[in-house]
Amino acid sequence: IADPEGYDKGHFKKVYEAVESMAGYFNFEKIDTPMVEDTSLFEKGTGPTTEIVEKQMYSFRTKGGDQLTLRPEGTPPVIRSYIEHGMFNLPQPVKLWYFGPFFRYEKPQAGRYRQFHQFGFEVLGEQNPVIDAQIIQLTYDILKTLRFKNLIIEVNSVGDSQCRPYYKKLLTSYLKPHRLSLCPDCRKRLQKNVLRIMDCKEARCQRIVSQAPQTIDHLCQECHNHFKGVLEFLDELELPYRLNPHLVRGLDYYTKTVFEVCDQDDLEGRGSLVGGGRYDSLTKLLGGRDVPGCGMAGGVERIIESIKARKEEAAEKVVPKVFLAQLGPLAQRKSLKLFEEFRKAKIIVLESFGKSSLGPQLNKANKAGVEYSLIFGQREALEDSIIIRDMKSGSQKTVKLNKVVEEIKKQLKN
Ligand code: HAM
Repeated sequence: IADPEGYDKGHFKKVYEAVESMAGYFNFEKIDTPMVEDTSLFEKGTGPTTEIVEKQMYSFRTKGGDQLTLRPEGTPPVIRSYIEHGMFNLPQPVKLWYFGPFFRYEKPQAGRYRQFHQFGFEVLGEQNPVIDAQIIQLTYDILKTLRFKNLIIEVNSVGDSQCRPYYKKLLTSYLKPHRLSLCPDCRKRLQKNVLRIMDCKEARCQRIVSQAPQTIDHLCQECHNHFKGVLEFLDELELPYRLNPHLVRGLDYYTKTVFEVCDQDDLEGRGSLVGGGRYDSLTKLLGGRDVPGCGMAGGVERIIESIKARKEEAAEKVVPKVFLAQLGPLAQRKSLKLFEEFRKAKIIVLESFGKSSLGPQLNKANKAGVEYSLIFGQREALEDSIIIRDMKSGSQKTVKLNKVVEEIKKQLKN
């Protein structure tokens, strides 16, 4: 079975490698937080009025009575770790990246799964807009490495605790007269999370929202200057961004910058490949010091599906070019060591050590389409030699056992 659980290993590896190498280049350290955390971490961090906390968490009580949750996202766990391990004592900013499975209870559909993988980058301890721009640049670079051609970066600023309360009031008073025309979810949001109405996908809500006051017109001086700074850096980097005044993102912790990156060639509407933004109050909210933060996370399955929609080849599979066939107990015994020598020389060798007759072994070699078969019989084992058979021409030659790795290396080079 090539891919029994449906993970697309070739593409998966490509994405991992692109992320890992960019992390190295931008000087991020890897962090692996546990798969389960206290439920309260997400209730508090991700936010009580978010869809994630309201509807999408896999939560359970342990026999010991702890209330735990399978992590639905990576940002609160990273901050918990930052606080718990006193990372504010390190030179700031602390730059961390991660890659792993996350869990959200949703209706499974293209680009939306209950177990999926995210990679993420978080920068803690720096509020300069250059960081926001760098996070966006890093996102763009990763997707470019994965050969996305038609990307669009949407950015917005959602303000902070100084200017947002006023904006929310303004938005609520604009929306209230339209209450009955909103979708049922947005009617509830009007009470609990009015900002989310801005990015509701329902046509009737979008119509109303298109005339609504926009955050960027109501930012305080500090948020205004910060956002201007971010945009100037993005201009400098010549990144293809678009201001989307309706972008608010579905997590409660964002302050100032928010952004999403989409593939414009995706006709199936899988949604954003990557989303992120700044969260300057989150560390304090979770019990730490007043430490600003900014980051992003990308959906690996969504990225892979978009790549596959391009009908390009998966990452090239390494095809073994050599088969080692053995005959007789002595040859079989010596074969294991020879196999190990090939491994050290980084030459992949196919084998069938459990088989004792030559026919089935050469059959397998043929099927695998290897270029060379090594035939190691009883006589060769006694004489410390081995036969190299060129599978295309059928020609054979005998070489000394201690020369065979070198010889194969030479042949494969030609
Ligand atoms: P998010 O927008 O909830 O942000 O998720 C980021 C990405 O994860 C999405 O753009 C999407 O590609 C992918 N994703 C989300 N849910 C699913 C799902 N059910 N199935 C497949 N893919 C999915 C966050 O998680 C924030 N922690 C990002 C962040 C980091 N902000 C600041 N730092």
